[in-house]
Amino acid sequence: MNLWAPLDQENIRNPFPMYATLRREAPVYKSQTGEWIISRYADVKTILKDPRFRSGNKLEWINRGITYFKSKDQDLSAIASAITSFLLLINPPEHTRIRKLITSVWNDREVDQTILENVDSLLNIKSEDNTFDIVEDFARPLPNMTICKIMGISMEHYQHLTTLSNNLVKILNLYNSFKDLVRIDSAARDFISFFRELLDIKKQRPDNDLISKLIVANASEREPLSDDALISVFIFLFIAGQETTIGLVSTSLLTLSKYPSQLNTLAGNPELMPNAIDELLRYDGPVHLLGRIASENIELGGHCIKQNDTVTLCLASANRDSRHFENADILDITRQPNRHLAFGSGIHFCLGDWLAKRQGALAIQRFLEVYPTYSIVDHTLQWNDNLSIRTLKHLSCRV
Ligand code: HEM
Repeated sequence: MNLWAPLDQENIRNPFPMYATLRREAPVYKSQTGEWIISRYADVKTILKDPRFRSGNKLEWINRGITYFKSKDQDLSAIASAITSFLLLINPPEHTRIRKLITSVWNDREVDQTILENVDSLLNIKSEDNTFDIVEDFARPLPNMTICKIMGISMEHYQHLTTLSNNLVKILNLYNSFKDLVRIDSAARDFISFFRELLDIKKQRPDNDLISKLIVANASEREPLSDDALISVFIFLFIAGQETTIGLVSTSLLTLSKYPSQLNTLAGNPELMPNAIDELLRYDGPVHLLGRIASENIELGGHCIKQNDTVTLCLASANRDSRHFENADILDITRQPNRHLAFGSGIHFCLGDWLAKRQGALAIQRFLEVYPTYSIVDHTLQWNDNLSIRTLKHLSCRV
């Protein structure tokens, strides 16, 4: 029997029964598409921390695709150039060097004011009939507005970059069709030309923003990154927190609406918010799947994972594993300890976790203050066709 069907609409709508079956019956499962599916907490965490499982399966897959399409006179090389220095796709020593460069300058964590200004400007837009689309009107624009400010990108480019980001982020999906690749390539081309122009401007007139700080720090490195590599770093920093934060804010507001007593507790005790955010990330965080490749033959759970085999790690399944979490399928905003894997683990642990949590906390808190009686009016929820980063298309509510 096939236990792994990540493209099945029913599983995208609710993947948790599929994960539960995998955890129970085949925690290290060879899928029909050939990759290994890992669903228990302990195994997922072990692999994330084991350097024999490398990142970059997507990069290798894309490069093979580009060569193939070249033979058919289709040039998709912009994708490869755009993602060449995406931290989560590369390995040490290159990964260590770029991660160090970013952390050496990204130390300004005073983001509350920027986030609150953005949140309030979005919550002020209320439709005449008192309906509000939590995804389109709130969760989608918010992270983009914030990262523009952090990176020193003028707001006039925000709409254009949002469209590019929505298309390029599809590169992180588990599977891509040819049609996807053409659209992703076009977004990659536009992103590269946008950031090349910005790079030239900020090289001449550095400011106090993240891009300027990266340019200055890079220039004083013994072996500085090339302009192409820097541009790829900018693109990744821009898109890494988009779809993920959209998922955190909108899915969390959906989850809370299903747990009215937890929602009331949270609304009356805002000091619980940081804990609640961790629990909402554990319960239904946006990143469900991550990929790795085995760099040698490795034994796991009585199976031999062969060199070059692809491994898919189900973070969202690990976070519901009752071997690790008591009452794993229940939302408990006071849960402690809560060592969930929503931000990964090991050397690729999310670099923007603090920003994601702060933005999620402030967005949800203000939303509950402004719309304390919101009620979801979408009865047939539509999810995007992607289990890797699982987000809602819309979430209409009455406010
Ligand atoms: C709720 C929101 C977010 C979630 C759930 C999330 C989740 C993750 C996960 C699971 C990884 C590990 C990938 C892997 O091991 O292959 C990751 C990596 C990363 N994230 Fe996030 N993320 C979020 C928001 C952000 C934000 C706001 C930023 C900042 C711009 C960010 C920047 C990064 C970066 C740079 C990496 C790569 C780190 C590395 O490979 O060393 N993320 N994120």
